[in-house]
Amino acid sequence: MRYGHFDDERKEYVITTPKTPYPWINYLGSERFFGLISHQAGGYCFYRDARLRRILRFRYNNVPADSGGRYFYVRETDGDVWCPSYMPVKSELESFECRHGLGYTRITGKRRGLSVELLAFVPDGVDAEVHQVTLKNESDKPREVTLFSLLEFCLWNAHDDQTNFQRNLSTAEVEIDGSTIYHKHEYRERRNHYAFYTVNEKVAGFDSDRESFLGLYNGFHEPDVVKAGKSRNSVASGWSPIASHSLEVKLAPGESKTLVFLLGYIENPKEEKWEKPGVINKKRAKELIAAFSTPAQVQAAFQKLQARWSGLLSSYKLTSGDEKLNRMVNVWNPYQCMVTFNMSRSASYFESGIGRGMGFRDSNQDLLGFVHLVPERARERIIDIASTQFPDGSAYHQYQPLTKRGNNDVGSGFNDDPLWLILGTAAYIKETGDFGILDEEVPFDNDEKNKASLFEHLKRSFYHVMENLGPHGLPLIGRADWNDCLNLNCFSETPDEPYQTTGNRVGRTAESIFIAGMFVHIGPEYATLAERRGLADEAKKARELVKKMSDTVLEHGWDGDWYLRAYDFFGKKVGSKECEDGQIFIEPQGYCSMAGIGLESGHVKKALDSVKARLDTKYGIVLQQPAYKEYHLELGEISSYPPGYKENAGIFCHNNPWVIIAETLLGRGDQAFDYYKKIAPAYLEDISDVHRTEPYVYSQMIAGRDAVRHGEAKNSWLTGTAAWNFVAVSQHLLGVKPEWDGLSVRPCIGKDIADFTIERRCRGATYKIRVKNQGRGGKVSLKVNGKPVPGHLVPYAPAGSTVDVECEA
Ligand code: BGC
Ligand code: NOJ
Repeated sequence: MRYGHFDDERKEYVITTPKTPYPWINYLGSERFFGLISHQAGGYCFYRDARLRRILRFRYNNVPADSGGRYFYVRETDGDVWCPSYMPVKSELESFECRHGLGYTRITGKRRGLSVELLAFVPDGVDAEVHQVTLKNESDKPREVTLFSLLEFCLWNAHDDQTNFQRNLSTAEVEIDGSTIYHKHEYRERRNHYAFYTVNEKVAGFDSDRESFLGLYNGFHEPDVVKAGKSRNSVASGWSPIASHSLEVKLAPGESKTLVFLLGYIENPKEEKWEKPGVINKKRAKELIAAFSTPAQVQAAFQKLQARWSGLLSSYKLTSGDEKLNRMVNVWNPYQCMVTFNMSRSASYFESGIGRGMGFRDSNQDLLGFVHLVPERARERIIDIASTQFPDGSAYHQYQPLTKRGNNDVGSGFNDDPLWLILGTAAYIKETGDFGILDEEVPFDNDEKNKASLFEHLKRSFYHVMENLGPHGLPLIGRADWNDCLNLNCFSETPDEPYQTTGNRVGRTAESIFIAGMFVHIGPEYATLAERRGLADEAKKARELVKKMSDTVLEHGWDGDWYLRAYDFFGKKVGSKECEDGQIFIEPQGYCSMAGIGLESGHVKKALDSVKARLDTKYGIVLQQPAYKEYHLELGEISSYPPGYKENAGIFCHNNPWVIIAETLLGRGDQAFDYYKKIAPAYLEDISDVHRTEPYVYSQMIAGRDAVRHGEAKNSWLTGTAAWNFVAVSQHLLGVKPEWDGLSVRPCIGKDIADFTIERRCRGATYKIRVKNQGRGGKVSLKVNGKPVPGHLVPYAPAGSTVDVECEA
């Protein structure tokens, strides 16, 4: 069942009913000011950091779901009250439509012939959300309504806002100036920032105190003020500050009216905080308000936003006969990559914005799907991430976006983390040719007195693995590797002990075959970088170490038909036929296969055949089998989940693309594409009632076949799935991949997709690639500008040039 449709022309997903199986979300903003908005106008926004600079309040686990957001209430003279977004009042609408587009959302509701449209977006380079509201009288009678706006402010620190009630019931302060409500909580002391909500017209009234507006025992669906039809002009003092305007709107039949509401964030230099004692300096706010006081200004900013997105997306353009593939590759997958790059794992409808911040491994992987969009931002991100690395090569697992400092609560000890920095940096250099980044002086642990070149950081990443080998010569897992829930040193028997940071028995025995696979896959990138810096001996040494690790995997990490997952604290195998549950895991099959460990000797083929036989399901490849039936002290969180959910045999979408990529290595394009389609959201649109999350973005997990609710997805948007699927589809299935010295063109997508074209921008040149596809499994013949070239590499052309590539595949 569907709840809407794709509008490919406008690059929008159009939701046609408010009653989707879950709130379907969009993200606004691209650099500093971000908002989340659901199809019912729910959600919140923040400046740079969802924990430390939260602007709107949002209640997780709330009842009903998705309440609180940017609301507009329409009150008719006869007392009828409704919202164009349906929520929170839930008066039935004659029509409803929500168009989620690239960086904007347009929600239109109609009742009794009056249509009200909300267009919400964050203009480029501006720290504000525009809410443009257009009322249109489509009936044949004159209409008179009162329009009420409402949003609820958060007291900046989202954690404090939800916990520190002995303080925060007394601290809120506002100022009212004409149509503008200023939220100046804590401005009197250490903060130099405030927010405001305004509208470009004289208001009939306003409210800034939640209780006065709603009534203490009322929900958002029944505000006293809206019922009464008259604002109370309340001025908040302590308690919960809100911003609400009321405006009288009169419309002749066919007439329409557009209002511009603006929710802005302002920082003042310390010495310019005050206009006069106790009165905030509003100069910057007034400038911002003036810049968005007419619909024409809004329109211009909106067009700029759309033009920027068209530009961004033109760096990889597919034209094929499969419209679902086109919309994933051209619009929605890169869009999600942008959002995961911006947010890492910090703020979504499932990440409260309080806990996780930017993940070290997550951000490096997010880069892989983003780097072709805005390489300069990827560069900055690499330096930020590397600055949180410790001198011994280990890394903070997470850092806060605002401070860019490592998070001490979570600390380090996830032994896969360091290697991802090599992968992210290599992807950036291949995309840009900017080897100079390796010479950047980057601090360790943000200590300006302890700096080294980025190359030195990568070297320490590489050797961190070597310095932490276990009894079989395989990498020690530490607290966990990619699989945060495989906690082999945790041994937790006490509720509330966090699995990721508890080490009740810390030994140097538990080993990860997954990290070994990563080392073999990523190590050669380090060796190449060393070589290009003239360090031939270092490169040779690195290659030998990689070769040795590959041999070690075949000797100690192979279980007969697939790669083992790990050795536990006691040296017992994990992911082996010898185990009762958890006999085979996807991660090492994907990663060791991508690394080509035992490719010639048939190990890769065997491993991938085992994946097909044991892990494949109708809705995707599950993480492991059989699911753990009971809690295993020696394995940790993985066995804490009921069978079929999350890491305990759920379809963890992030690692499916590793298998897809590995299949293309074997030339099995049909199988690879089949796996791709199983989890790609556009292909799941028809089963939205089963899948439940948005049909335009990936979710972290789809419940596996052991689960009661097989096929049901959870935790959409912020997941490494976005980047890895983009890598899989763009670089391996469609086969256009930047390498050190040229663009590799080697499609392997099976026979279902006939001829297709790709336009790829790279290093300033444009490559127009026409593929005649007969499904030759990665075997290609190329002509570049009409001349045959051997192999699959199109040499890089000078910036500004256009290269014509013909490919038979
Ligand atoms: C969750 C995992 C998740 C991890 C991220 C754990 O508590 O259960 O699924 O990957 O946190 O840090
Ligand atoms: C989500 C985390 O963000 C990611 O780092 C991890 O690899 C997966 N969960 C798997 O546990």
